[in-house]
Amino acid sequence: MADDVRFSTPELVADYRAERLKCDTIVDIGAGYGFQSFAFAKKCKKVYSIELNEQVCARAKENLAKLENVEVICGDALDPKVIEKIKKADIVFCDPERLPSEKERTMATIKPFLPDVVEKYSHLTNNFCFELPPHIRDIPFDCEKEYLSLFGKLNRLDIYVGDLKNCERSAILLPGEHFLRGKRKPVEGPLQKYLYEIDPAVLLAGLEGEIKGVKKTSNKYATADEEVESPYLPQKYAVLRVCSGHELKRVLRDMFCGKVIIRYPIDPQDYWKERNELEKGLSGKRVLHLFRLNEGFVVAKLIE
Ligand SMILES: C[S@@+](CC[C@H](N)C(=O)[O-])C[C@H]1O[C@@H](n2cnc3c(N)ncnc32)[C@H](O)[C@@H]1O
Repeated sequence: MADDVRFSTPELVADYRAERLKCDTIVDIGAGYGFQSFAFAKKCKKVYSIELNEQVCARAKENLAKLENVEVICGDALDPKVIEKIKKADIVFCDPERLPSEKERTMATIKPFLPDVVEKYSHLTNNFCFELPPHIRDIPFDCEKEYLSLFGKLNRLDIYVGDLKNCERSAILLPGEHFLRGKRKPVEGPLQKYLYEIDPAVLLAGLEGEIKGVKKTSNKYATADEEVESPYLPQKYAVLRVCSGHELKRVLRDMFCGKVIIRYPIDPQDYWKERNELEKGLSGKRVLHLFRLNEGFVVAKLIE
């Protein structure tokens, strides 16, 4: 299976999902090379794996051949002849195909068309789980939106329909399975002694308000007067100074700074030009981090 790994669901994600969707019989639509089906087979009694692409399906058959509880079906998951073969389903899962890049992600370009999946499988179950691009707009289902980050990077969005829905929005961090859900709105406050980066899945789920002990700054950071330990706050900085643009050079020199890591949004093409400009004339040894918040430029030290 090694060659197929880069096109498929990472094992940590597949195992997490299989645990959450553990049931008697599951249908895996758009099974690809079979990575998610492989994980489902460890937790469910029966897995139907449906794949449209003939060559990909042939490979899925090879990959899953040793598993007696997996039935691989080559064909279109929306074709009645394919659906006829499914005798029972507790949950229908689909990791659909999407265009490699799009200006704006929409449901219309996702294959198979997910509202059709719901309609055509509704005689079997009301419980669906779909993987979607995290920034997709207009989701036409009453569902839980679960944003998942893997090793601190936003990885995917899974939506849960029917009895699988536990709340409106949730965030899960893997590895470790740190899980947030809730409704509390983030409380905003002025910059305090510490500045924190927030995990991207938590940010996209809008669940920053659920992280204990911090407030939200004017943008995507958290702040507190105390040092807070939380899996949802992967990077922690001590705020050293807040200053205006024209004070910045002097402040950096006074702080014996030699390297300035720019943390505010900047076009990658301009990063080194701006950084070289900031570091010109600095001869200190300290590596400091530079943010731009409502309060002004924030010079901070990473706490490791
Ligand atoms: C993102 S891949 C799935 C990867 C897979 N979940 C894994 O773990 O390796 C999406 C797959 O959906 C399949 N697909 C697209 N439309 C389909 C349809 N109507 N019926 C069945 N499979 C379909 C594509 O051929 C593609 O292999």
